[in-house]
Amino acid sequence: MKARIVRIALASLAGLAIAAGIAWWQVKNAETVATSGTASVGGPFQLTDHTGKAVTDADFRGRHMLVYFGYTFCPDVCPTELSTMTVGLDRIGPLADKVQPVFISVDPQRDTVAHLAEYVKLFHPRLTGLTGTPEQVRAAAKAYRVYYAKAPGSGDSPDYLMDHSSFLYLMGPQGNFVTVYPAGTTPDRLAEDLKKRLAG
Ligand code: NI
Repeated sequence: MKARIVRIALASLAGLAIAAGIAWWQVKNAETVATSGTASVGGPFQLTDHTGKAVTDADFRGRHMLVYFGYTFCPDVCPTELSTMTVGLDRIGPLADKVQPVFISVDPQRDTVAHLAEYVKLFHPRLTGLTGTPEQVRAAAKAYRVYYAKAPGSGDSPDYLMDHSSFLYLMGPQGNFVTVYPAGTTPDRLAEDLKKRLAG
C-alpha cells in the first residue's frame, strides 16, 4: 500500500515537473504559442460521452475546458478532485458558464457509458464524462501527459485499483493549454485563479 502511494506520488511529481516546465516554457514563448496555436499539453481526442455520443476535442471549442483524468472506482483522489472542480466552479458564479468541466476515464474496461452517466451526476451538473476504447483513452491520456496503469498486485480481481496522475488542466477556447492545478488545490484557490483568468 505504502509502495503504491509512493509510486503515485513520484509519478505525480514527475508529471508536475513536466507540467511546470511546460507552463514556464509557454510563458517564455507566449508570443509564439499565441500565434502558432500549438500546445504541448492537450490535443486531438476521439471519445464517447456519458450519453453515448461520439465526441472529439473540436466539439469543445469556444469554451474553456477543465479536464480531469481518473476513474469512477477511484476510492479517494478522483472524487476529491472532482469535488474541488465542482465547488470551485460554483464559487465563480456566472463566469463558470465559460468553462466545460470534463472527466476522462483511464479505466474504459469498467467505465462504461452507463456507469459514467451515473457517476457524473454526483458532481457538477454540467460535468461531461468521457470514455472510449483502450486505444482512444491511451491517445487522449498521452496528449495530456497523463500517466495511468493498473495497480500492481491487483491480479485478476474485478476490484482492481488504477494508479494515475492527478491534475486539473485548464484549456483555452481553442483547445490550447492554459494552466494546470495540481492535486490538493483547494476550491478557493481554484476559484480565485479561474476568476482572474476568465474575467474580462
Ligand atoms: Ni483516482
